Amino acid sequence: MSVKPVVLVTRKLPPKVEERLRHDYQARLNPDDRLYSKDELIAQASGAQAILPCHTEHFSADVFQQLPAEVKIIANFSVGFDHVDVEAARKKGVVVTNTPDVLSDATAELTMMLMIGAARRASEGEKLVREGKWKDWSPAFMVGTQVTGKRLGILGMGRVGQVVAKRARGFDMTIHYHDVRRLPPEREAGAIFHETSEDLLPHCDFLSIHCNVTPATRGLMDARRFSLLPDGAIFVNAARGAIVDDEALIAALTSGKLRAAGIDAYNNEPKVDQRLVALSNTFLMPHIGSATAETRDAMGFRALDNLDAYFAGREPHDRVA
Ligand code: 8YV
Repeated sequence: MSVKPVVLVTRKLPPKVEERLRHDYQARLNPDDRLYSKDELIAQASGAQAILPCHTEHFSADVFQQLPAEVKIIANFSVGFDHVDVEAARKKGVVVTNTPDVLSDATAELTMMLMIGAARRASEGEKLVREGKWKDWSPAFMVGTQVTGKRLGILGMGRVGQVVAKRARGFDMTIHYHDVRRLPPEREAGAIFHETSEDLLPHCDFLSIHCNVTPATRGLMDARRFSLLPDGAIFVNAARGAIVDDEALIAALTSGKLRAAGIDAYNNEPKVDQRLVALSNTFLMPHIGSATAETRDAMGFRALDNLDAYFAGREPHDRVA
């Protein structure tokens, strides 16, 4: 590289990642971690050959239309890329990459936390202790339900889903799953495949969502599908809010159809539907599935590997458009 390419980095990234960015590129950093508006994003991109954004920046068809022509690649700091209109990117000839694999462990850990937290009433318990309202104990006090030995349904058996299955086997859970493709037997490791989501749902004491947002999965968990779950099932979502119809979820939690839900991903983040907050049977986290120091570094390095490949004239490993 003779003249270092200009990279717009939309959010503050871990020190080691920014160090490599400064070393290898003309990095346009955001030390205050200010969230750019659409117009600021477009203005900041002026003169940049690359953008390294997070899922907090939206690249709609409209944004692509206004994006300076010199922007050649969007190297996401995220595995999900539903914030990027990939069709519009293709039309404009902009390469798009993501960061798969490196956040599967962290997201699977958080998923286990959501399952256990929802099943064992973690929100209620913590609130009692923190607010000084824990006054007594009895055998009937804060009784939840056990995770061990239950049936776990995984909707979307990709990288994260497979790690969740592995961790859940440590709790002697029986794994059921649906995906558009059946896994080969060695990767299935005894998990029971269901041809459709409808076939899967009646087998789920716990249901955990791990699919991408696509036209086929947007709003997939609607009233009809929630009704197919066993009564008292526990619902977990560490993937994307857009897969869930919030009205249907709230109705199922309110009626007791669902015993509880553990949620890390929402529609309209960070504005969480206040009805979910008001319910005592929800265990809510603020989209921190991949928020570990190890994973944040790895995501940054993976995004940089993709940029390096692109500017060296090679095909980026994680190209999605
Ligand atoms: C990331 C995520 O923290 O990678 C993803 O798709 O949802 C998160 O875990 C976030 O997207 C970073 O941009």
